[in-house]
Amino acid sequence: MSTTILGIESSCDDTSAAVISDGILRSNVIASQKVHEQFGGVVPELASRAHQQNILPVVSEALRQAGIVCSELDAIAFTRGPGLLGSLLVGTSFAKGMAIGLGIPTVDVNHLHGHVLSHFIKENEGQEVPEFPFLCLLISGGNSQIILVRSPFDMEMLGSTIDDAAGEAFDKCAKVMGLPYPGGPIIDRLATEGDPDAFKFAKPNIPGFDYSFSGLKTSFLYTVRDHLKNDPQFIEKRKADLAASLQKTIIDILLDKLAKAVKATKVNAVAIGGGVSANSGVRNAIQDFCNRRHIKAWIPKRAFSTDNAAMVAIAGYYKYIKGEFCSLDMPPYSKVEV
Ligand code: KG4
Repeated sequence: MSTTILGIESSCDDTSAAVISDGILRSNVIASQKVHEQFGGVVPELASRAHQQNILPVVSEALRQAGIVCSELDAIAFTRGPGLLGSLLVGTSFAKGMAIGLGIPTVDVNHLHGHVLSHFIKENEGQEVPEFPFLCLLISGGNSQIILVRSPFDMEMLGSTIDDAAGEAFDKCAKVMGLPYPGGPIIDRLATEGDPDAFKFAKPNIPGFDYSFSGLKTSFLYTVRDHLKNDPQFIEKRKADLAASLQKTIIDILLDKLAKAVKATKVNAVAIGGGVSANSGVRNAIQDFCNRRHIKAWIPKRAFSTDNAAMVAIAGYYKYIKGEFCSLDMPPYSKVEV
């Protein structure tokens, strides 16, 4: 008998629903919220309201695309945290209500585990998935972590950011350049036309496997400010060079700690996940990094890099098989699991 899971993701500004049957993806629907662009960042209250509007149509569309009806579902998996509490409450409440109505269990998923397990989403039977153990570089708008993954349930965080995340470095520097939110994808596009060695920005010097991006952000801000004094058109003239140099510095910082972690753990595979793993420079750099070390690189499809419910459904599927369900009184959490 097959096992079919509906996954629901609502931790930030994307409302998403996906259906997975026996580990194979049948649908993955994402509604991105445009309402935040004019504010230069995600406005939590507006995100919650947009989730409330989107969730029913998104879930219905995911079931329709999967070609199933509600009664064929075995469980509903949802992101319980970390993320924006108001946004999480929408997905959590919706999942619980729907599960009660259908008389099926819910499975709670940690959003970050979902990103790591996105490499196990299969779009067809024959698709290869990573072997354990491997290192996952998880880089998003809120996190920059190096995780040692020993099994779907055994993950050890070796290092994490002590201040800004890699995605924040992209977005905040993009804001300095007057670009709209989120700036990461725009920097990615601009960088293809610029000189990555045109500007030198500060790199951190902190011990262990932890990351820091706040010094880079400050040095970017000062560089731009100093040049603007002499030339008010500086950003317009040099935006491609600024983007390329910024992207190169972020990649150098990411790879420096990753190289240390690969050496220390002796793993023979590296995976990337999270919104910043959609960056073309990061993807090429990780591939080169792994080729040089003769280890395997796992680079997700862009649709599975950013927030999506397919990763929630696959993580939920593993927990369902293990018999780990969520009780109906479990609340969402914004940072640390409760
Ligand atoms: O994982 P994600 O979708 O959600 C949150 O963490 O909220 O990551 C969003 C982050 C944003 O900072 C965005 O600018 C960044 O991922 N991002 C990118 C690219 N696509 C998304 N950064 C650089 N290049 C990209 N192509």
